[in-house]
Amino acid sequence: MKRFVRMSYLVAAVAGVGFFALSVFVLGVWPGRVLEEETRRMSPEHPLPLTASEQRGRSIYGREGCAYCHTQQIRFLKSDVERFGAPVLAWETRFDYPHLWGTRRIGPDLSREGSIHSADWHYSHLYSPRSVVPDSVMPSYPLFFQGGPDRPTQEARDLLAYLESLGRARELAGPEGEARMRTVSHRMEEMDLTSPVLNANPARSRRQGEYPRLSLGNDPARGEILYRRHCAGCHGQRGEGDGPGAYGLLPRPANLAEHEYSQDRLSFVLWNGVSGTAMPAWRDLPVQDLASLAGFVRQFYAPRSEPELPGQILELGAKVYAGHCAQCHGDEGAGDGSAVRELRMVPASFAGARPSFAVSLRAIRSGVEGTPMAPWTGKLSEAELSAAAYFVRGFYRQ
Ligand code: HEC
Ligand code: HEC
Ligand code: HEC
Repeated sequence: MKRFVRMSYLVAAVAGVGFFALSVFVLGVWPGRVLEEETRRMSPEHPLPLTASEQRGRSIYGREGCAYCHTQQIRFLKSDVERFGAPVLAWETRFDYPHLWGTRRIGPDLSREGSIHSADWHYSHLYSPRSVVPDSVMPSYPLFFQGGPDRPTQEARDLLAYLESLGRARELAGPEGEARMRTVSHRMEEMDLTSPVLNANPARSRRQGEYPRLSLGNDPARGEILYRRHCAGCHGQRGEGDGPGAYGLLPRPANLAEHEYSQDRLSFVLWNGVSGTAMPAWRDLPVQDLASLAGFVRQFYAPRSEPELPGQILELGAKVYAGHCAQCHGDEGAGDGSAVRELRMVPASFAGARPSFAVSLRAIRSGVEGTPMAPWTGKLSEAELSAAAYFVRGFYRQ
């Protein structure tokens, strides 16, 4: 009996230590090995390292505690993927040490931030988040600037370089990287997302694809609330492009009171943003809300009477246009000329957005700052300038 009791201590001790060892293996060692193997198989051969500036930006990101409010891990959840893009794979952060994954989303996930916003948007946002996103709770970081969003310090440039690098490794892995991912993970198929869009919010990339055609909302009260919340920071209370956020932006926010927009153009712009500018894509909002916004935007423009033009002026305008403007603005004014591929931003389509005569003439005389549109004063005669300004307005299709 005594011997048996002594044995039971031994059995308990061996079982205890044994189970402890087993759980260390099953919970600690084994998943690590599986992950390592998966990571190795999915990772491209040579993931691109960060540049010196991006490295400095990364430490600023860590130092300022950005990770307390922002995650860098898009989970395998449909809602995550729809809003932020393809789920983050382990190899993407393989060389990140310490990791900046974050655990709380007070602000949005930033793993695919690299292609969402333009540089001027980022600077204005860091300098004063509420100037461009009126109800943001993000702290402002004026310490990165010398008095204004258009005067960033080296630290702001480094931080921006880092933000721009987020998601790049995955993008560069290309189709080959995606194919490798599929050999290991079937979760994307299970989620019915066989070809994930890397970045669900393509404001800056020129990827356009399908966009819903908005029926212009007839709920002006709702449109107004949404406009004040999302747009007035940049476009101003009266739509004149003079909100507090406009100060550091180039090109300036459009003057909505001086342009007539077609339904199609508004649908396109609200869904895709304007690539190469600070104008974000708004596809996170419900389509119904986008329609209310489109309706509200339209009421800023007051129709005004236009002079009858003699045929000669239009002829002169057509000649100037074909000679100097069509290579960018396109034969039909659709912003699809042959030179567009080389441009940083696509010219607006005259078919979808008609500037008032005053704005048109000003753009031709002085160019549009922050865009490839150069001033034509001195290169064209006065008659040619105003003829062209009239002529381009004729492309508009309701
Ligand atoms: C107190 C929480 C908080 C902290 C700290 C914080 N943010 Fe934010 N951030 C937010 C919120 C909320 C938003 C969403 C509203 C907005 O766009 O301003 C946001 C938005 C952003 C966006 C825009 C994302 C997008 O795609 O629209 C970027 C970029 C960003 N933050 C970068 C940073 C950086 C860099 C830091 C550190 C220097 C930082 N944030 C610190 C809360 C925070
Ligand atoms: C961060 C600043 C910013 C915010 C916020 C913003 N915009 Fe813009 N928006 C711009 C800029 C900059 C342009 C100018 C693009 C250009 O020059 O083509 C623009 C252009 C536009 C245009 C004209 C597009 C074209 O080229 O035909 C419309 C319409 C528009 N915005 C509507 C809105 C609406 C509606 C909202 C709110 C849901 C909004 N914007 C929010 C900065 C902003
Ligand atoms: C190098 C390409 C290029 C050439 C050449 C060019 N443009 Fe532009 N134009 C642009 C771009 C880019 C914009 C900016 C669009 C924006 O801000 O959305 C623009 C803007 C404009 C605007 C202002 C539109 C608005 O709604 O505010 C007018 C008007 C215009 N161009 C007319 C002309 C005329 C007339 C000519 C020929 C004399 C011409 N452009 C030549 C690229 C070009």
